[in-house]
Amino acid sequence: MEAPFWHERWAKHEIGFHMPKPHAALERYWSSLKLAAGSRVFVPLAGKSLDLVWLARAGHQVVGIELSPVAVEEFRIEHPGESGIDLRCGNFFDLTPDTLGPIDAIFDRASLVALPPAMRRDYVAHITALSEPATQTLLVTMEYEQSQMKGPPHAVLESEVQGLYGAQHDIATLERLEVLADYPRMIERGVTALAERVYRLKRR
Ligand SMILES: C[S@@+](CC[C@H](N)C(=O)[O-])C[C@H]1O[C@@H](n2cnc3c(N)ncnc32)[C@H](O)[C@@H]1O
Repeated sequence: MEAPFWHERWAKHEIGFHMPKPHAALERYWSSLKLAAGSRVFVPLAGKSLDLVWLARAGHQVVGIELSPVAVEEFRIEHPGESGIDLRCGNFFDLTPDTLGPIDAIFDRASLVALPPAMRRDYVAHITALSEPATQTLLVTMEYEQSQMKGPPHAVLESEVQGLYGAQHDIATLERLEVLADYPRMIERGVTALAERVYRLKRR
């Protein structure tokens, strides 16, 4: 999806992707990355996610990038005084290793799956260029029958994750959970089965 689509979503506040609590994968799997205290964590396509707050409170320096000034402003209003979070307003694809700075880990929930197929390869090439060998990623994808609903969120199956990341990352599935009941709007849109898959990726 291109920028105007997302600006319109935020202007109309059609933000069904925004969750009222941090994603459960953080509580369950973040510690398995075994990051040192104070590690720097990057959250691409961040929205105003509470994941940013969870990561900062876990002792990380958190840097997020979000296209919409509405989202960034709402985050600042909703989390005054929350320290350790550098949520920047801008285009992910304009970040460079210099402007982003070194990162130890990435949390990707609703970022890769927000993008249509043609943009995913560019996204992965770019995020790989922003990372370094040994950078770890916790990646959450959605799996459903794509013909049942037009994304976003898009279905991204394991074979695609292998194809996108496999050349430069070691990939491990940590969990695959049926989650349809948590996404009533996707049921309304015709989806009859939905799973989230959580991966740990390690850049080689
Ligand atoms: C599906 S939402 C997910 C937000 C967040 N990860 C969450 O879990 O709530 C995708 C977000 O990415 C933002 N976005 C889309 N394309 C972007 C880009 N090229 N650069 C930065 N942000 C972008 C959108 O404005 C939107 O807030």
